Amino acid sequence: MQHLMLIVFLSASLFFLHIPCARCADLNSDKQALLSFAASLPHGRKLNWTLTTQACTSWVGVTCTPDGKRVRKLRLPAVGLFGPIPSDTLGKLDTLEVLSLRSNRLTVSLPPDVASIPSLHSLYLQHNNLSGIIPTSLSSNLTFLDLSYNSFNGEIPLKVQNITQLTALFLQNNSLSGPIPDLHLPNLRHLNLSNNNLSGPIPTSLHNFPVTSFLGNAFLCGFPLEPCPGTTPSPSPMSPTPQNAKRSFWKRLSIGVIIAIVAGGGLLLLILIIILLVCIFKRKKGTDPGIASSSSKGKSASGGRAEKSKKQEYSSGVQEAERNKLVFFEGCSYNFDLEDLLRASAEVLGKGSYGTTYKAVLEDGTTVVVKRLKEVVAGKREFEQQMEIIGRVGQHPNAVQLRAYYYSKDEKLLVYDYITPGSLCAALHGNKAAGRTPLDWVTRVKISLEAARGLAHLHAEGGGKFTHGNIKSSNILVSQELSACIAEFGLAQLMAIPHTPARLIGYRAPEVLETKRPTQKSDVYSFGVLLLEMLTGKAPLRSPGREDSIEHLPRWVQSVVREEWTSEVFDADLLRHPNTEDEMVQMLQLAMACVAPLPDQRPRMEEVVRTIEDIRSSSGTRSSPEDKPKEETIQIT
Ligand SMILES: *[C@@H]1O[C@H](CO)[C@@H](O)[C@H](O)[C@H]1NC(C)=O
Ligand SMILES: *[C@@H]1O[C@H](CO)[C@@H](O)[C@H](O)[C@H]1NC(C)=O
Ligand SMILES: *[C@@H]1O[C@H](CO)[C@@H](O)[C@H](O)[C@H]1NC(C)=O
Ligand SMILES: *[C@@H]1O[C@H](CO)[C@@H](O)[C@H](O)[C@H]1NC(C)=O
Ligand SMILES: *[C@@H]1O[C@H](CO)[C@@H](O)[C@H](O)[C@H]1NC(C)=O
Ligand SMILES: *[C@@H]1O[C@H](CO)[C@@H](O)[C@H](O)[C@H]1NC(C)=O
Ligand SMILES: *[C@@H]1O[C@H](CO)[C@@H](O)[C@H](O)[C@H]1NC(C)=O
Repeated sequence: MQHLMLIVFLSASLFFLHIPCARCADLNSDKQALLSFAASLPHGRKLNWTLTTQACTSWVGVTCTPDGKRVRKLRLPAVGLFGPIPSDTLGKLDTLEVLSLRSNRLTVSLPPDVASIPSLHSLYLQHNNLSGIIPTSLSSNLTFLDLSYNSFNGEIPLKVQNITQLTALFLQNNSLSGPIPDLHLPNLRHLNLSNNNLSGPIPTSLHNFPVTSFLGNAFLCGFPLEPCPGTTPSPSPMSPTPQNAKRSFWKRLSIGVIIAIVAGGGLLLLILIIILLVCIFKRKKGTDPGIASSSSKGKSASGGRAEKSKKQEYSSGVQEAERNKLVFFEGCSYNFDLEDLLRASAEVLGKGSYGTTYKAVLEDGTTVVVKRLKEVVAGKREFEQQMEIIGRVGQHPNAVQLRAYYYSKDEKLLVYDYITPGSLCAALHGNKAAGRTPLDWVTRVKISLEAARGLAHLHAEGGGKFTHGNIKSSNILVSQELSACIAEFGLAQLMAIPHTPARLIGYRAPEVLETKRPTQKSDVYSFGVLLLEMLTGKAPLRSPGREDSIEHLPRWVQSVVREEWTSEVFDADLLRHPNTEDEMVQMLQLAMACVAPLPDQRPRMEEVVRTIEDIRSSSGTRSSPEDKPKEETIQIT
C-alpha cells in the first residue's frame, strides 16, 4: 500500500516536473544551455554572462526574439573561443536563427546537433580550425552557410542538394575531397569551393559560377576550368582551348570594331561610350549587392530593408578580393574585420564636405563611426602615410581617435570611436523650441579650452606641417558630459584642391581662399572664428534672412566694437549671467587676435590654450557653488 502510494506520488511529481518543461523550453533553459557552452569552452575575451543578469539585454552576443522569451541570435565572432564546440549545449537552442562563431580557434568537429537546429538560417564558422566531416544533418532552413578556412575533410554532404533556400555556400580552404554534388539550388548566388581537394567534373548546374569559385582543386575539371580528359578530343598543346579561341575572337572583333569606328568618325565613338557608361551605371545599380545583403535575410522586414540599402552604400566599392584589408592602429582593442563592418547595421549620421558618416553597429554590439570619403586624390602611399599621422596625433582626450582605415581604388573608409552625437554647432544654434538649453558661460569656456588643447596637440604632435584644415563648430563634438573632442582633422590634405563650399567660407582664413592650402596659422584663424561664434551665438554662414548668421563674423564684430567695447556683440543668452562680461571681453580680444588678417600676427595654438586657461581660472574662482546662481548649476548637468 505504502509502495503504491509512493509510486503514485513519484509519477505524479514526475508528471508535473517533467512534462511541462519538456514541452515549453524557455529563456531559462536557453540561458542554461549558453552558460554550459561558455563553461566548457575557454575563451579569450570575457563573456559577461551570469545567471543573475538579463540574457536578452545584457549578455554580450545574445539577441532574443521580439517577445524576449527565447534566444534568436548568437554572435560571438573573434572572442578567442578555444577548443571543441561542446555538443548538447548550443543544439538545445531550438529557436536559434543566426549563429556566428567565426574567427575563433574552435577545433575538432562541428557537432551535428548544432548544424541541424531546424530554425537555423545563417551559420558562420569561417576562420576556425574545425575538422572532421560536415554533418549530414544540416538544417533544411539554411540560407547562408560559411565553413570556409577550416580543416573540414570528407565529402560535401548530399544533403546540401535539399537545402533549397541556400543563397551562399562558402567552403573554400578546407580539405574536402570527392565529387561536387549536383546542386540544383535556385537561390544560390555565392559559391566558393576553392582550395580543397575536390575531384571530378563540375556539375553543369554550377557552370555559371566564375572560375574563382573552383580554383585550387587539382583534380577538378570541366567548365569553367579545363575540360575533363576524355570528354573532348585531347587538344594539341598549341591549339587554343575553346575558351581561349572564344576570347581571342572577341579581342580581334573588338579591335576591328574600334578601328572601324575610329575610321567612321569620333562622334560615333562618343555616342557609343555614353551609351556604354549609361548601361554600366544602370547595371551597377541593379546588381546583387553581395554578401552583405544575403546575410541580412531574415531580418525584420521593416528595419531590414532600409538598413540594407544604407549598408550597400559603403560596401558597394569593396572588392571581394580586397576584403580583410582593414588596417588597425596599434593599441586598439577592436576585434573585427572588414566583413563584420560591411555586415554591420549602418545609419547615416551626416553628410559632410568629405563624405558621408555612418554609425555602424557590429555583430557583437560594438559601435563605431565609419566615414566614407569621397573625392580623395591622394595615392595609396600618400594616403597611408597621412593615416599613420592622423592615427598618431589623434591620441589625445580632446581628439576623436582614428582606429582603422581601408583603402582601395574605389573606396576609402575611416573607422573612428563612436561618441554620442552632438556638436558645438548644435549646442549653439540648435532649435531652442526643441528643448535646447543655452550653453552657459562656464561651459562655453570649458569647451573652447578643450577644443584648443586638442588642436594645440595636433599642431605639436604633427610636427609643424600638420593642420586640421577644417575647423568649424560642427567638427567640435560635445559629449553628454559636455567635454569637447576635435573631429575630421588631417583630411583636407587628401582631397582635391578644396573648392570651398559657400557655406564654409566664414571659417576660412583670407590667405587660404587664395592659396587653397591650409596652414597651422589658418587653423588658428578658423579657431578664432569659432571663438567669435561661441561669444556672439551667431553662425559664420551666408544665410540671408537668418538673424543668427553673419557671413563675415570677424568683420561684423570689428564694426560693432570699433565704436566701443559694447555688449551688443555678445550672445543674449550669455548676458543673463552677471559678472562674466570681463571674461567675455578678454575672450573677444583673444578671438580678434586669432583672426588677424596677417598669419604672422596670429598667436600659436599653445598661446591660445594658455590665455583661455587664464580666463578660466578667473571664472573658476568666481563661480564657486556658493555664489553661483542655482539656474547655472542645473544647466551644466
Ligand atoms: C555585457 O557587455 C555588453 C556589451 O559590452 C554590455 O552592453 C552589457 O551591459 C554587459 N552586461 C553586464 C551584465 O555587464
Ligand atoms: C523553416 O522556415 C520556414 C519559413 O522560413 C518556417 O515556417 C519553418 O517553421 C522553419 N522550420 C523550422 C523547423 O523551424
Ligand atoms: C588545426 O588542427 C589540426 C588537427 O586537427 C592541427 O594539426 C593543426 O596544427 C591545427 N592548425 C592550427 C593553425 O591550429
Ligand atoms: C532530399 O529530399 C528528397 C525528397 O524530399 C528525399 O527523397 C531525399 O532523400 C533527400 N536527400 C537527402 C540527401 O536528404
Ligand atoms: C587559402 O588557400 C590558398 C591555397 O592553399 C592559400 O594560398 C591561402 O593563403 C589560403 N588562405 C587563407 C586565408 O588561409
Ligand atoms: C586528394 O585526392 C586524391 C584523390 O582524389 C588523393 O589521391 C590525394 O591523396 C588527396 N590529397 C590530399 C592532400 O588529401
Ligand atoms: C574563393 O576563395 C578563394 C580563396 O580565398 C579566393 O581566391 C577566390 O577569389 C574566391 N572566389 C570567389 C568567387 O569568391
